[in-house]
Amino acid sequence: MKNFLLKEDIQEILVNINDISASFSGKKVLLTGGRGFLGRYFMEIFNLLNETVLNEKMKVIVLDNLITSGKEGSEIPNYKNIEFINHNVIEPFKTESSLDYIIHAAGIASPYYYRAYPLETLEVAINGTQNMLKLAREKSANLIFFSSSEIYGDPDSKNIPTKESYRGNVSCQGPRACYDESKRVGETLCNIYHSLYGVHTNTIRPFNVFGPGMQETDYRVLPNFTSRIKGKIPLQIYGTGNQTRTFCYITDAMEGFIRVVLNGVPGEAYNIGNPNPEISVIELLEKMSDILNKKVEYNLVGYPESYPADEPNRRCPDIIKANNQIKYNPKIELNEGLKRFINWSDQVYLGKQ
Ligand SMILES: NC(=O)c1ccc[n+]([C@@H]2O[C@H](COP(=O)([O-])OP(=O)(O)OC[C@H]3O[C@@H](n4cnc5c(N)ncnc54)[C@H](O)[C@@H]3O)[C@@H](O)[C@H]2O)c1
Repeated sequence: MKNFLLKEDIQEILVNINDISASFSGKKVLLTGGRGFLGRYFMEIFNLLNETVLNEKMKVIVLDNLITSGKEGSEIPNYKNIEFINHNVIEPFKTESSLDYIIHAAGIASPYYYRAYPLETLEVAINGTQNMLKLAREKSANLIFFSSSEIYGDPDSKNIPTKESYRGNVSCQGPRACYDESKRVGETLCNIYHSLYGVHTNTIRPFNVFGPGMQETDYRVLPNFTSRIKGKIPLQIYGTGNQTRTFCYITDAMEGFIRVVLNGVPGEAYNIGNPNPEISVIELLEKMSDILNKKVEYNLVGYPESYPADEPNRRCPDIIKANNQIKYNPKIELNEGLKRFINWSDQVYLGKQ
């Protein structure tokens, strides 16, 4: 398969959404950020649905300005019924086509890149989202906004696992503010368009999704670790290493996203992640050492200039709402996901970070 994703994973996602996927029959979808990590999965899933499941093909328009999509993202596959347009969503987008769903996944998602592009990060989540909301209103389309678990900031321990109703503990001036605060405004805009104009909006708050397709130079934790292990470069853990995260394998995450797209209750936000286990960065590395069957050395270092400090200490989703309302139930255990990711990255990464 092109784009370095695993064919078996795409097929597994199709099996997992088998109960609902026919609803895409004949639908018109606009996908922004379609050449990023998650966007490329949407493209592959939509293409495979067209080829194997849907009686009436869905038509998809994909927008991306390729700012962070890297080499993998800039190789655009030529799929029937899927049209790619190089477009910056900070500018309005016009189309003659009717639209049923707008999936707004364009964003600058990696802390390394939002440190490098703070204004672009802010604008894609605010202006980009408003442009897409205006279009959704004009076309009577459903709008699904990719927000982030980062909107919760650094929750205190009584709000772990974190429910959607938690209001957050976020700095408006810290090094992460361009991302956290703009995603919060993006959510506010969705709420306003929903309540003022009756646009069917949903917000997705992903919690650390990982899997094949993550770029080696993305600098999120798992590609960073696997690339350095492969390149035999000493691992550097920023801060104490005791900060916790949960990790959601891509097949579970994509299933959750598609359940929100097709069945989200209008106006609602959903955490999509895997709450088990909540582990520290050091424990994650130990797990990787076990899977690789070799000891991985690391150093604890301060935050470099290129990476935003002020990291949340703990992050773990409460997914009861997503389970009750859209039947979201992640299945892939962390060990299994890590094995798939490490095997894949071993074949694809050069290990030269
Ligand atoms: N992957 C995760 O774990 C995760 C977690 C929380 C939130 N999210 C959110 O989900 C969305 C997708 O994440 P991802 O992991 O695929 O990120 P990604 O960086 O791999 O992909 C984002 C894509 O958006 C494009 N883009 C950025 N600004 C744009 C603009 N102004 N106009 C058009 N295209 C633009 C980039 O070129 C890139 O291809 C993002 O909005 C991100 O903030 C992802």
